[in-house]
Amino acid sequence: MANYKIRNYDNSDYDTVRDLFSSGMSEYVPSVCVHVLKQPWVIFVLTCMFLSLMLTSKSLILPLLAVTLLLALGRQVLGYCWKMYIDQCLKEDLQDIQKTYMESKGSNFWVVEVDESIVGTVAAKPSDEKHDELILKRMSVRKDYRGLGIAKALSREVIGFARSNGYRSVILNTLMVQSEAKKMYENVGFKRYIEYVLPTIYGKLVNFKISKYRYDILPVT
Ligand SMILES: CC(C)(COP(=O)(O)OP(=O)(O)OC[C@H]1O[C@@H](n2cnc3c(N)ncnc32)[C@H](O)[C@@H]1OP(=O)(O)O)[C@@H](O)C(=O)NCCC(=O)NCCS
Repeated sequence: MANYKIRNYDNSDYDTVRDLFSSGMSEYVPSVCVHVLKQPWVIFVLTCMFLSLMLTSKSLILPLLAVTLLLALGRQVLGYCWKMYIDQCLKEDLQDIQKTYMESKGSNFWVVEVDESIVGTVAAKPSDEKHDELILKRMSVRKDYRGLGIAKALSREVIGFARSNGYRSVILNTLMVQSEAKKMYENVGFKRYIEYVLPTIYGKLVNFKISKYRYDILPVT
């Protein structure tokens, strides 16, 4: 177990926190590509293109080249869209972390420190829908510090914060490619209560699934 310390966010952590979030999310580009490639319509289009080019050109090289080029192009497009999503998050709550989390009632942002380096983050803020629901966000652990129980400790920190601030539940969203995160939250005691496909054209096209998890805070008896 690493010798780590969980503490509240400080303004001097700003750049590191944003970098940690960006690099954690960027890791998912290959999994997103695999997810898209597994969609039946994508397989169908690629197969049709391959077969029709093979039949018309009577060669294997042209269809192989065309499919490879299309895959490379798809990888670039998905990478670009994913980067836009990350940039959007950086412009939302991560734009002014101090104001969003540290100066707002019932919110907080934590960092994990090991030897004066920040290796993990998590945030919490009240839900817009229910006043007694806390949303856990921005969970991220630096790659070389994974598997040491840091994310579980951060989740428990948020649960403890929720309990002492009178919230009745902690909720969070995960994306279809975040299987390690889902497993970790389930190990902590979160239960999946909704799974849906993002209701946009692109969401439906690539079957972009969001799973919502909840941890109910039981009253102390
Ligand atoms: C998800 C993430 C936060 C986990 O951090 P972590 O500190 O490695 O997690 P912990 O060591 O506390 O997690 C332990 C649990 O997570 C699961 N887990 C962690 N890494 C895993 C892996 N590579 N494969 C499968 N399960 C894994 C296991 O269930 C493990 O439980 P166990 O130790 O009892 O077996 C980290 O991988 C990360 O930062 N990913 C990128 C950003 C991200 O996806 N954030 C979540 C947003 S919802």
